[in-house]
Amino acid sequence: MNEQIIILDFGSQYTQVIARRIRECQVFSTILRFDTPAAEIARLAPRGLILSGGPNSVYAADAPVPDIGIFNLGIPILGICYGVQIFAHFLGGKVEKGTKREYGKGTLTLRDAKCPLFRKLPKTLQVWNSHGDKLSRLPTGFKAVAITDNSEYAAIEHPAKQLYGIQFHPEVAHTPRGKEIIANFVHGICRSGSGWTMRHYRDQAIEEIRAQVGKERVLLGLSGGVDSSVAAALLHEAVGEQLTCIFVNNGLLRAREAEVVREVFGRHFKIRLQYEDASDLFMRRLRGVTDPERKRKIIGRTFIEVFQAATRRAGKARFLAQGTLYPDVIESVPIAGNPAAMIKSHHNVGGLPKKMKFSLVEPLRYLFKDEVRALGLELGLPAEIVNRQPFPGPGLAVRVLGEVSRKKCDILRKADAIVVEEMKSTGWYYKIWQSFAVLLPIRSVGVMGDERTYDFTIALRAVESQDGMTADWVKLPYDLLERLSSRIINEVKGVNRCVFDITSKPPGTIEWE
Ligand code: XMP
Repeated sequence: MNEQIIILDFGSQYTQVIARRIRECQVFSTILRFDTPAAEIARLAPRGLILSGGPNSVYAADAPVPDIGIFNLGIPILGICYGVQIFAHFLGGKVEKGTKREYGKGTLTLRDAKCPLFRKLPKTLQVWNSHGDKLSRLPTGFKAVAITDNSEYAAIEHPAKQLYGIQFHPEVAHTPRGKEIIANFVHGICRSGSGWTMRHYRDQAIEEIRAQVGKERVLLGLSGGVDSSVAAALLHEAVGEQLTCIFVNNGLLRAREAEVVREVFGRHFKIRLQYEDASDLFMRRLRGVTDPERKRKIIGRTFIEVFQAATRRAGKARFLAQGTLYPDVIESVPIAGNPAAMIKSHHNVGGLPKKMKFSLVEPLRYLFKDEVRALGLELGLPAEIVNRQPFPGPGLAVRVLGEVSRKKCDILRKADAIVVEEMKSTGWYYKIWQSFAVLLPIRSVGVMGDERTYDFTIALRAVESQDGMTADWVKLPYDLLERLSSRIINEVKGVNRCVFDITSKPPGTIEWE
């Protein structure tokens, strides 16, 4: 990645959004910790630096500070919010402890239309503010470029040194022209060209994989989810026959999941696919278990066992490939109040023990989720796989409440297939984070035809979310809910009632177990 912009992270919840915006300008961006040494940054030779916002005050005892050497690297720097306050603090300016927080929409008025950060932008702009402290004296050599009602120094610049600072957040959607401000910095000021596309990434990743792997063999645990599927397609293109994908059927998959994987990867891509049907073993171990955490642990442990045995059968291989994504790799800044810091503590059923002696290949480790989807399309994967909603590692086991059995999984699979089909045909599937059915362990009385029924209940769940950490329930149209309910009750034997879950996260979780 020779042409890049580096973002130093001071703990803002928006740091990843800044990285995304830069990549939308077709320029590669990397997030590093706020205290990364200047020498390390110099070694990476970025075109420019962005200092992110953060929840702290520059006066806090543990305020995060950058290596002052960054100001002597001779590259343009843009400070955003806390980012500008911290550099002003060091370069002779003054930051005033705010008495009230400036939060929400504001109007920015340009005073200096020549500032390259605001090139081709109107004299007044809507911007989004979220800060407590504010600049009250310019740092040495700087001039004010724009003001808001609350601040004389909403945007400042030191043209000779190419240092820029803004108090508002250009990266969020509430600053509608913010993308252009970022593009002005990236292209106009840092002079980065715009060649970083998924085709470019793919070509480069293939070269890197070949250089890393040489003539050795690579194994990959293919789940059929977006990440492992894209990793498989990419690795196959890079090393062909040297790749073996292991697909474990745990009996807890959705309808047609195993068939689609075999069809797409085995028959279409002609990838060496080792199919492991371990559904009997999983079902046996889950018999009689009702506690959600125990269910998860059993599934996690069994998966590792099955996968390990499968790798032994696959023959000698030096590498194990994983579909790790960039958000899992970024070393989050452990600052109180930074929600990004929590995002890591996530369920990872596929987490393999360290004692498995493989070297790792992680070809997606620089990508965000939607970039992985774009790469998948670039590699020719079908939209059905690339646009899949997330599906939990323990599969249907966390959606069959209480004891899991093959029979209950079959009921849920049928109901779930109807949900997927209806959500896809109405377009809702692609608009939201997740939509699925849950089988409740209670039965209730109903009447079908002339007969009394005493059957199970299906709960429908549809949620909107950015990252799975918080979620809102989706207000699906009544006619769609009605169709889902009537199809499930009519077509799925054993179900006579449908309910709709209207709980957001928090306080609920997305999955029911
Ligand atoms: P919860 O239920 O914790 O789910 O609100 C948040 C998101 O994570 C998914 N999920 C999992 N994903 N392994 C996974 O790979 C798991 O064990 C697991 N549990 C939940 C869930 O589907 C939602 O998108």
